[in-house]
Amino acid sequence: MPSDAKILRGRTLSFLSEPTGPEDTAAYRYLEDGALLVEGGLIRAHGDYAEVAAQAPEAEVVDHRPHLLMAGFIDLHLHFPQVQVVASWGEQLLDWLNTYTFPAEVQFADMTHAERMAGAFYDLLLGHGTTTAVAFCSVHPTSAEAYFAEAERRNMRMIGGKVMMDRNAPDGLRDTAQQGYDQTKALIEHWHGKGRASYAISPRFAITSTPEQLEAAGALVAEHPDAYVQTHLSENRAEIDFTLSLYPEAPDYLGIYERYGLVGDKTLLGHAIHLEPREIELLAATGGKPVFCPTSNLFLGSGLFDDAGLRAKGIANGIATDIGAGTSYSMLQTLNEGYKVLQLQSQKLHPLRAFHWITRGNAEVLGQVDRIGTLEAGTEADIVVMDARATPAMALRCEKATSLSEELFILQMLGDDRAVVETYVAGEPMKPKA
Ligand code: GUN
Ligand code: ZN
Repeated sequence: MPSDAKILRGRTLSFLSEPTGPEDTAAYRYLEDGALLVEGGLIRAHGDYAEVAAQAPEAEVVDHRPHLLMAGFIDLHLHFPQVQVVASWGEQLLDWLNTYTFPAEVQFADMTHAERMAGAFYDLLLGHGTTTAVAFCSVHPTSAEAYFAEAERRNMRMIGGKVMMDRNAPDGLRDTAQQGYDQTKALIEHWHGKGRASYAISPRFAITSTPEQLEAAGALVAEHPDAYVQTHLSENRAEIDFTLSLYPEAPDYLGIYERYGLVGDKTLLGHAIHLEPREIELLAATGGKPVFCPTSNLFLGSGLFDDAGLRAKGIANGIATDIGAGTSYSMLQTLNEGYKVLQLQSQKLHPLRAFHWITRGNAEVLGQVDRIGTLEAGTEADIVVMDARATPAMALRCEKATSLSEELFILQMLGDDRAVVETYVAGEPMKPKA
């Protein structure tokens, strides 16, 4: 047995498919005295403790009982250069971008600043149990270098890209169509597929890209069909009006991205709130993925994401924090606010489906369920250990909890980084110590 083999013992929960409701026990595997055999960065076995221990009698045992082990959380949309923008008061999207966000992003031209922020960013992700994320960097290649280099140091499976933006942004925060292409190309060549990194071609949104730049982004997509694409779609009414005035020939907002070859099944579309029927049909036909960002949508007053409406069309939605318009790094708090956004539309977010969403569901959106998002043997050992009694209020509420679903709902509504006992990245404990 190689020396790094270890057994993580605790209650284990892994999703096999999306639960259809509280009774759907076939959709997950929950073991009261479970264990994961972890070695070489991978989960080698998931089963009852006695069974796994018999398989690897030499392995060190890390006893996490009575805590709950799940796959590490996946955050499908956030902004690395906005760590100092979170909780900036009072504006809706376009004013918020101009007043707070763009000035903060200008600073990421400076590598020293970008590196310091990258350290803080990954500490926050891991502190909150997030092991994979898809982030926008700033327009500066330095920001993407800092983002990927720090992820590589921590051996995290991360996806991201520098934003392409060549208009409607201040000095120091614009590239050109050619620079956006060249810089993105160089970053793809350096980082895409290196270790655990993947690149996302990232035209910020149609407002900040000229048609020439979207054409260049489309060329990159054609040249790198295995890279992801990320952008923003129909977040806010004023944004949509401004967008359509810039692209008067477009049938609708998504039609702009469609025209430039940017919509496919590796395309992540942040927000996607105010959609036209044609746009929904196009998402269904292309496999484009809307990403629900509840804390952000409430914070900026953007609107209510129609999860059930999109799902009824067979569209697979992701869920994400959208830091820094989002107000928490916690995917648990994201589920909390998501639950409320859906309640306002008489839609339900059952805890089993919620925890599937931030693990296996988001991994499916990425097409990476063979690697991340579950505790199944052969996948990467990105694991979160959770304590539903982490705070006095949670402990008190847990006294009355009698089922797994109830415990999960307490975590979903009351949990945050305090409920994360440990975060494993490729088998190594990586939660920063307070
Ligand atoms: N649309 C374009 N850029 C952004 C951003 O940084 N945050 C949000 N919420 N929406 C955007
Ligand atoms: Zn965003």
